[in-house]
Amino acid sequence: MRLVFFGAGYVGLVTGTGLADLGHDVLVVDIDADRVARLEQGEIPIYEPRLSDLVRRNVRGGRLSFATKISAPFDSADAYFLAVGTPPGPDGAADLTAVMRASDTIAQTAKQKALVVVKSTVPVGTCDKVQARVAGAKVPLEVVSNPEFLKEGDAVNDFFKPDRIVLGVPSEEAGEKLRELYAPLQLRGERIVLTDRRSAELVKYASNAMLAMRVSFMNELARLCDATGADIHAVRLGVGSDTRIGKRYLYAGPGYGGSCFPKDVQALAALGRESGVRLTLAEATHAANEEQAKFLCQLVERAIGGLAGKQITLWGLAFKPETDDIRESPAVKLTKHLLEAGAKVVGHDPEAAANYVKAFEGRVSVRERDYDAVEGSHALVLLTEWRSYRAPNFDEIRKRLVGGEGKDAPVLVDARNVWRPQDVTKAGLRYRGVGVPTTTPDAAPRG
Ligand SMILES: NC(=O)c1ccc[n+]([C@@H]2O[C@H](COP(=O)([O-])OP(=O)(O)OC[C@H]3O[C@@H](n4cnc5c(N)ncnc54)[C@H](O)[C@@H]3O)[C@@H](O)[C@H]2O)c1
Repeated sequence: MRLVFFGAGYVGLVTGTGLADLGHDVLVVDIDADRVARLEQGEIPIYEPRLSDLVRRNVRGGRLSFATKISAPFDSADAYFLAVGTPPGPDGAADLTAVMRASDTIAQTAKQKALVVVKSTVPVGTCDKVQARVAGAKVPLEVVSNPEFLKEGDAVNDFFKPDRIVLGVPSEEAGEKLRELYAPLQLRGERIVLTDRRSAELVKYASNAMLAMRVSFMNELARLCDATGADIHAVRLGVGSDTRIGKRYLYAGPGYGGSCFPKDVQALAALGRESGVRLTLAEATHAANEEQAKFLCQLVERAIGGLAGKQITLWGLAFKPETDDIRESPAVKLTKHLLEAGAKVVGHDPEAAANYVKAFEGRVSVRERDYDAVEGSHALVLLTEWRSYRAPNFDEIRKRLVGGEGKDAPVLVDARNVWRPQDVTKAGLRYRGVGVPTTTPDAAPRG
């Protein structure tokens, strides 16, 4: 088939490239001329494992190309995919400007009957609005909801082996066409969910809100553990052993971030308000997440005893491992607080450092090597559980941090609860986790 994608971001680039790899002719269109120029030169503007090889292979094979505008033969495509951003507006509701602009372009350009496939995460009823928007086209265009569930950091894998495919279709013909398109994929889960457009749109928000809710609930319990002396590790193991609950998405931490959970939970709450149905759980999930970010700032502040004039190192700036995406990342929130309180911030991240430096324009610094970032700091905060941070040399960290012994020793704040407190204290460092008991090394000098 001949396919056009609008948006060369995480979703458009991965999905468009994946479909090219299945043998389709794909054009990825983006209004960001710089992004398109980089892609044309073989440079991938985002970090996503396995993506760059896949892009290069398909460009070389003549199946994948990039442009700022649609031109022949892609004005006669079989399907147009919308993978543009839907950022939150001031009230939390999704901003559909890019979706509507791209829809107008399709309506003006399409020269043959085609599908318009909405992959962007959009509120219930958006596909109907898009259908009305493209009604003026010279050819019949049928709008389908096909929400995207890929996880940044594992997106290529998710494309080829999705848990499920959700298709909200207005006709049997549209459903069949998309089934044919996705037939070569290896479904990890049970099925293709074929439904109406509105239900498909809601599936996406419901899925993200459900996952975010689990995280927020565990974070609230972690704060309760902190106040009462219970240990969130044990609580998680005990709760997660119930097969009805399951073990995943029960990790306490710095709060969820990224380009999806925060905005989708808020957009769902906004949709509820607009529809006259107050979604108290979605609202509480968001509020608990905001609270967790504040809790983390306080935890760091309490651990060091004041922030003004102190230097703090952050390991992990991306919102999760294996991505360079810092949108709504816990590191960004904590950095804002630390800077406001008069601290100096030094960061390290295997992939997201450049985005982080750009976001803070000269107010933070980063180092190429993780241990160099620790040099001269009063505390190290682990915010993203990249593999390379999992088993560090704590003696080396101790040498580089400044501080005394015992309760005055420098502190490691493990916002992901991945380090073993005894390994940290053995090196003469204090350990603070999220919802786990505080651990302090002996006051006596080591060795
Ligand atoms: N990132 C994820 O993990 C993920 C997962 C599932 C769903 N989604 C959803 O998919 C959508 C896209 O997310 P993303 O993270 O890929 O966004 P992104 O911000 O990485 O990319 C969006 C791209 O669209 C381009 N764009 C904007 N208007 C355009 C237009 N009129 N024509 C062509 N290009 C245009 C932008 O320049 C940008 O490059 C959002 O609705 C998001 O909620 C994202």
